[in-house]
Amino acid sequence: MKNTDMRMHVQGKSVFIDDITAPDGLLHAVLFTSPVSKGRLKNIDISKAKTAKGVAAVFTHKDIPGKNQIGHMILDQPMFAFDEVEYIGQPIGMVVADTRKNASKACQLINIDIEKIEPVLDPREAYKKGLIHAQKRVLTNGDVEAAFKNCKYIAEGTIDSGPQEHFYFETQRGLAYPVEDDKIKVCASAQSPGAYQHHVAEILGIPMHKVELEIRRLGGGFGGKESTAVWVAAPALAAKLLNRPVKLALTRNEDIATSGKRHAYSYDYKLGLDAEGKILAFEIFLYQHAGACADISPAVLGRSFLHTSGSYYIPNIKVTAVSCKTNIPPNNAFRGFGVPQGTFSIETAIQHASEIMGINPIEIKKKNLLSDGDFLPYGMRLEKTNARRCWETLDKQTDIAKRIKSVEEYNKNNKNFKRGIAVIPVCFGISFAQSTLNQASALVNIYIDGSVSVSAGAVEMGQGVNSKIQSIAAKTLGIPVNFVHIDTTNTSRIPNASPTSASTGADLNGMAAKTACEELLLRLKKYIAKKTNYYILDEILINDGVVFLKGAKLDFTWKELIAEAYADRTDLSCHSFYATPAIYYDRIKERGRPFAYYSYGTSITEVLVDCVRGTYDIESVDVVHDVGQSLSKEIDKGQIEGGVIQSIGWATIEQIKYGKDGKVLTSANSYKIPDIKFVPKKFNVTLLENSNNPYAVCNSKAVGEPPFIHGLGAYYAILSVLRGIRKDKPFPSLPLTPEKVFMYIRE
Ligand code: MTE
Ligand code: MOS
Repeated sequence: MKNTDMRMHVQGKSVFIDDITAPDGLLHAVLFTSPVSKGRLKNIDISKAKTAKGVAAVFTHKDIPGKNQIGHMILDQPMFAFDEVEYIGQPIGMVVADTRKNASKACQLINIDIEKIEPVLDPREAYKKGLIHAQKRVLTNGDVEAAFKNCKYIAEGTIDSGPQEHFYFETQRGLAYPVEDDKIKVCASAQSPGAYQHHVAEILGIPMHKVELEIRRLGGGFGGKESTAVWVAAPALAAKLLNRPVKLALTRNEDIATSGKRHAYSYDYKLGLDAEGKILAFEIFLYQHAGACADISPAVLGRSFLHTSGSYYIPNIKVTAVSCKTNIPPNNAFRGFGVPQGTFSIETAIQHASEIMGINPIEIKKKNLLSDGDFLPYGMRLEKTNARRCWETLDKQTDIAKRIKSVEEYNKNNKNFKRGIAVIPVCFGISFAQSTLNQASALVNIYIDGSVSVSAGAVEMGQGVNSKIQSIAAKTLGIPVNFVHIDTTNTSRIPNASPTSASTGADLNGMAAKTACEELLLRLKKYIAKKTNYYILDEILINDGVVFLKGAKLDFTWKELIAEAYADRTDLSCHSFYATPAIYYDRIKERGRPFAYYSYGTSITEVLVDCVRGTYDIESVDVVHDVGQSLSKEIDKGQIEGGVIQSIGWATIEQIKYGKDGKVLTSANSYKIPDIKFVPKKFNVTLLENSNNPYAVCNSKAVGEPPFIHGLGAYYAILSVLRGIRKDKPFPSLPLTPEKVFMYIRE
């Protein structure tokens, strides 16, 4: 079972927002934004723009009929700035014209008078000034201070990790239509159907039932289309005010310059170990570079916060985390949702400790790997832990010790080229940390010809969630996969859908769809029982569209069954709901069971560094990853490969530069994402065998984000080469670009 979209993708038949036939009278909206990173908004002069060629209207905050607010977690984000601006690229208003070009040109005619204020651009400085979003979080377990006194080795330091541009192929966009009776319909490139519908309704000042969000698929989301609703709400506002269809689509460079990215972090760490390398204590302070508004940053920080122990048992720990308010575009979710940064903190501390101890970091990792019965810092006791099993499976496959030896051997005999190697274990909690969001619903309709349509709250963005739901529905009903069609994600069919994020898309929506199909199957069995006068329902089976009674084939097909059940007035439509059981979290005590289960893995990454030029090749990556009973091996392998490569990009070549004034200087032609030549020469992905997971649909495990962690291996493999050459400098920050590698060695 592969991603059903693939065939259409390669034929160019898949419909993205730009492929929707332009409706009559379509207008185009372009936002005008702040050129200043902090200041008081004195005056907006739109008079010249209003009369420019092709312009239908110019809108500012004054034109918003509802609430000028799109804050996702905290109400600190006006859709259009009104009294102050807080970052370069902040929307101030919008020009609507007959063509995009005319709208763009008219934006140049707008005069904005802003009194500049000194911005804050460094997260540590922001924290010192008390500029943080939401609350500072502190989690303690055990007695850290006492434990440090018993440590033989202590690794203490400071490190940074950089931002990452989502670079989804389809930039942020929305196409809005006025519908009768003051209703508005928006085709949106959005991961959060429910939340975006809510934002649009609030901006327009109309009830949610007058807003219909329709989502076929996204040309990638990666978290960047989860929380910042302006690019969907703005065209909706224009369509409503002008009673015309309006489209807004960011150019690539507008998107890079104004949208949120993966958060950069700064870390203070202190790790203490005993003489044998057992971890006794860890103290970590996370400074999240959040940007001007809270957006979804506190949630992302929360996940980093809960993952600073990585895959290790740490008896004494103190974690402090702050989301720092700085004058750059508000950052948002990005694949991994803070877990890569949380994991980076402990992995770096271990790397540092291994240097002090004079051993290979894998000795420390192996010794402290999570086992059943271990407690995580927030008091959750682990069961069915596959951390060690993943490590052992990888070891059996590749002989980790032997590979490290051969790298050491190579490095002894070569001067200008050096090899680096790193092993990364993964432990990634699955569920929204905000318990409320762990719910989903689905609507399954069987039509009288036997064809089935499924609507769910899940958003397809390339990860194959629709194919997974399609196969779950077909399996549950006992019919061929091609009898099932996955309909669009639509807020009129599925209300209040949680975002498709936190890797829970298939878990939650798949379970809701399965429950609806089970209910429909029960109704059909009851009809068969009535028809055959045989009432032991367990002995009625439908398989591959054929009906069996007591193991014998009946002479009527699925299609005939449905036609008859309909004639007999059976309800052939079912809405079903699912909420993940037994998860809770106490924010005051910082204790609870925030995740339903964990996704595990281990990988080994090998690099070859050209120490003269600073360039490197990612030679090989071997991954063992735990996806439970895979819902689709091809899709899961694709998710693992894609996640790892995207992560290697973050760890090595992807770099965003901000100017001294907080302006994003990077554009499409100066940002390098991994291409096919960058893919490791040897890339082996193995799905862990015999893994079961009672906490998710059909014993599967979420796969969208956890494999992202493996890409950290590229950073540590290159780092090991750098540290082998010189140890007189502090650790270099992530990403390790070739330029940085060169300077580290030469400067
Ligand atoms: N894969 C593709 N091709 N495109 C995407 O945008 N998003 C990732 C991951 N894989 C993404 C992707 C992110 S950030 C998440 S949270 C999950 O998919 C969401 O989908 P799921 O919950 O259905 O796995
Ligand atoms: Mo993914 S970052 O949780 O959308």
